[in-house]
Amino acid sequence: MSKLTDRIALVTGAASGIGKATAIRFAEAGATLVLADRNAEALAAALAELDDPRHLSCLLDVTDEAGWAELAATIETAFGRLDVLVNNAGYGAFRSIAETTLEEWRAILAVNLDSVFLGTRAMLPLLAKSRVGGSIINMSSIRGIAGAPFAGSYCAAKGGVRLFTKAAALECAALGNGVRVNSIHPGHVLTPLTSRVHDDPEQAAKLLADTPMGRAGDPDEIAAAMLFLAGDGSRYMTGSELVVDGGSTAQ
Ligand code: NAI
Repeated sequence: MSKLTDRIALVTGAASGIGKATAIRFAEAGATLVLADRNAEALAAALAELDDPRHLSCLLDVTDEAGWAELAATIETAFGRLDVLVNNAGYGAFRSIAETTLEEWRAILAVNLDSVFLGTRAMLPLLAKSRVGGSIINMSSIRGIAGAPFAGSYCAAKGGVRLFTKAAALECAALGNGVRVNSIHPGHVLTPLTSRVHDDPEQAAKLLADTPMGRAGDPDEIAAAMLFLAGDGSRYMTGSELVVDGGSTAQ
């Protein structure tokens, strides 16, 4: 089992779904968590669930450049370094290209892709101070590898996350700052974000037909892969894409 003892880990979108499951896994592995989310109420509940005074929570809209600078200053003051950054917050919009407004396109790119750039830029100086080698995990999707109809903005954003990750990994290696950067690509995972789809029998059947293992993933199954990427078990991995999708993209 991977250990994150004495490591400081920042997870965005930590108030729900995969981000929350990841925070819980990391805390169980010994990490001190900084939970970030824009939903104040859910964030407070997630922090309360961890039930340990060493963890912090910070309200953050991941599309807000100034918010990232403030959060970096808070982490610098509290810990002087960061060991793990999980750029997880995001969501999709499922509409035809014809019906997608430029405003919506930009909003989807902002929350899924700008956020990863802003978070990486803001936190790199702190990750470079990690004594064990910093690890950045960027949330992509199987939709960052293979396209899907009625998901143009989401596919563009998650595909952007996939290649930004590789560019950042190579840049960190060239700089010799000890920071590894990898992306993670879940398939269909049952979370509050997707419950509406999974609750609709017709849509759920379609998704499951598309998943060779015949079921949706559990957030904790993504969190387990997050833990692997965060810890020393993956210390020779950078610029990699870890697919956790019940076989969907193997077809
Ligand atoms: P979720 O909706 O359960 O959790 C997302 C969290 O992000 C929420 O707490 C929300 O408040 C927060 N958030 C949203 N916008 C934010 C913003 N601008 N600033 C700060 N926080 C914000 O969703 P879920 O399913 O856990 O998704 C997490 C990530 O995983 C997303 O990036 C999603 O695209 C990705 N993903 C999800 C899959 C799934 O099937 N659930 C599959 C593949 C990728």
